[in-house]
Amino acid sequence: MALEKSVLTDTIISDLLLKHYGIYFVSAQRLELGTANCYRVFDGNKFYFLKEFQSSFLENDVIREAELLEFLVKSDIPTTRFYKTFQNEYVIKYEDRLICLEEYVEGQAYNYDDLPCHLLPQVGRMLGKLHYALRNYSLPIDMSDDWLKSFSSENVIKEYDSLIEIAKGRYNDKYVSQIIEDLEYKKQLAVRCEAYKKYYNGITYCATHGDYQGCQIIFNGEDVKAIIDFSSAATLPVAWEIMRSYVQSSEQCRMDAKIDIGGFCSYVNEYMKYSNLTKADMISMPYVYLFQLARSKYGYPQYLKTDSPDKDKLLEFAFWRTQMCREVEQKASIISNELLKLL
Ligand SMILES: Nc1ncnc2c1ncn2[C@@H]1O[C@H](COP(=O)(O)OP(=O)(O)O)[C@@H](O)[C@H]1O
Ligand SMILES: [Mg+2]
Repeated sequence: MALEKSVLTDTIISDLLLKHYGIYFVSAQRLELGTANCYRVFDGNKFYFLKEFQSSFLENDVIREAELLEFLVKSDIPTTRFYKTFQNEYVIKYEDRLICLEEYVEGQAYNYDDLPCHLLPQVGRMLGKLHYALRNYSLPIDMSDDWLKSFSSENVIKEYDSLIEIAKGRYNDKYVSQIIEDLEYKKQLAVRCEAYKKYYNGITYCATHGDYQGCQIIFNGEDVKAIIDFSSAATLPVAWEIMRSYVQSSEQCRMDAKIDIGGFCSYVNEYMKYSNLTKADMISMPYVYLFQLARSKYGYPQYLKTDSPDKDKLLEFAFWRTQMCREVEQKASIISNELLKLL
């Protein structure tokens, strides 16, 4: 589901490819998956992957991604690469959009909610391998000490209250009571998060994908052909990337908003075949997840304040994620204790 209307047409793609890459265009097919506008382009001989980033992306983010891929292809991490233009650039601009051209990876890609469960262990293993490969790689830090200090439950509550006010005015909307119930829960979660701050003490940070999950992998049967879409790469708590990737990829989490603690422990075990985790990482895992999501409003303002054609889908995602927070919070101490047993 692309989030913005594409600015490209066949003629524009054809002109851009010839001008910047010397590639003769034969056809382009719009790809269904992803939030960017993505195309499979053919030059009569081979395929290319062309990505038109959403307008929020900055050129430096895309260059950082291209450089990271150059590093990874030299390691044992299967991924793709960006082609360079005649001007030796990884990215071109058209209107307000950034565009890149990547090697096309043949294989099976999945959507956000349809990764078959037998592939889940492979997702955990690849994350362990990725963190090992990136252990000395430097990326800008996210969820830093300053970010942690900037958290104020009062500010978060104010933001939720203003959304609740808008929701209360929508008498005829069938989703209003659920929206208000969710936002009230998230206000309480934000208050409890003042105490969850302590879980960031001494946890492991590592350069990582930043949006790692099953839909960011192209498979060939059971094998990983490529990890793709490193545009959110940053140095982050490994506990966050592990917990979030499991929740976003596991069928049980996606379908029922339930966490199978045994299944999650197996996932973490696969990860640990390639990268180490500490006691602090294990204890913090559910709390780091909750802390990050307590202040994320994503989905609610889009539904309440915009006319986006995707607003129902975004609200559905928000409902699911808040339900996941309730589930994780309710089981947080059991999750930490079970994870500790893996050490
Ligand atoms: N290099 C590639 N080769 C083939 N298909 C790709 C490639 N990169 C991405 N895709 C396909 O396009 C979809 C969207 O690409 P992605 O980079 O993940 O964009 P988004 O930022 O929108 O998630 C992926 O889910 C995958 O199906
Ligand atoms: Mg993606």
